[in-house]
Amino acid sequence: MIKTENIIKKYGSGDSEVIALNGVSLHINEGEFTAVMGESGSGKSTLLSILGAMNSPTSGSVEVNGTDIYKLSKDERSMFRGRELGFVFQSFYLVPYLTLLENVMVPLVITKKTKKEKLEMAEYSLDMVGLGSKSHRLPGEISGGEMERTAIARAIVNRPSLLLADEPTGNLDSKTGKAIMSLFSDFNKTGMTIVMVTHSSEWAGYAGRVIRVADGQIAD
Ligand SMILES: Nc1ncnc2c1ncn2[C@@H]1O[C@H](COP(=O)(O)OP(=O)(O)OP(=O)(O)O)[C@@H](O)[C@H]1O
Ligand SMILES: [Mg+2]
Repeated sequence: MIKTENIIKKYGSGDSEVIALNGVSLHINEGEFTAVMGESGSGKSTLLSILGAMNSPTSGSVEVNGTDIYKLSKDERSMFRGRELGFVFQSFYLVPYLTLLENVMVPLVITKKTKKEKLEMAEYSLDMVGLGSKSHRLPGEISGGEMERTAIARAIVNRPSLLLADEPTGNLDSKTGKAIMSLFSDFNKTGMTIVMVTHSSEWAGYAGRVIRVADGQIAD
């Protein structure tokens, strides 16, 4: 499902150069639920964004579902992202003036579905995270946990084969965190491959595999 060969990622240049990833080779099988742990600044978000086809490595290759994603053109890569991937960001990036339903429909804009199909998919997705009854609210009218769940509904609305989540439970209380983890376990049982960054060993416990990142390298 995911195969990376010796990823190196540098930000900046000269004196301000940062080596965020320093030779990451990784295999993740289809259907795996993997947690990525490591200290702040170790390179977790960088790794996730590179796996998510939105941050080119300085060198090295990334294969997702047999496609070498950084050999695609920019357009092909965004199509690939829209078709195969779901992403929950460290901050949720909900659009404040769109309702939850409209926010969840955003990834469907580029797909060739009818308006009715898009609405059904978005409603289904919001139902899955328990927000069906609040679909017409704005992000400013819901709680932090509900924003997080909306971001998750948006990430899964196109039924991605790979879900990448950067601290999806980062700011949540234990009860909401548990609800989100059991949601992820359910997605995983339906065959979705999941890679989740987390600082919490409690949440990592829901994953079948834990990868540790330290100083831009896989520590295990
Ligand atoms: N866009 C950027 N430009 C310059 N440096 C960056 C950029 N993004 C990340 N970095 C640096 O790369 C390193 C890895 O950052 P990254 O965000 O991947 O860490 P992280 O493990 O996700 O940390 P956290 O747990 O705090 O989210 C850090 O030193 C960070 O300052
Ligand atoms: Mg991060």
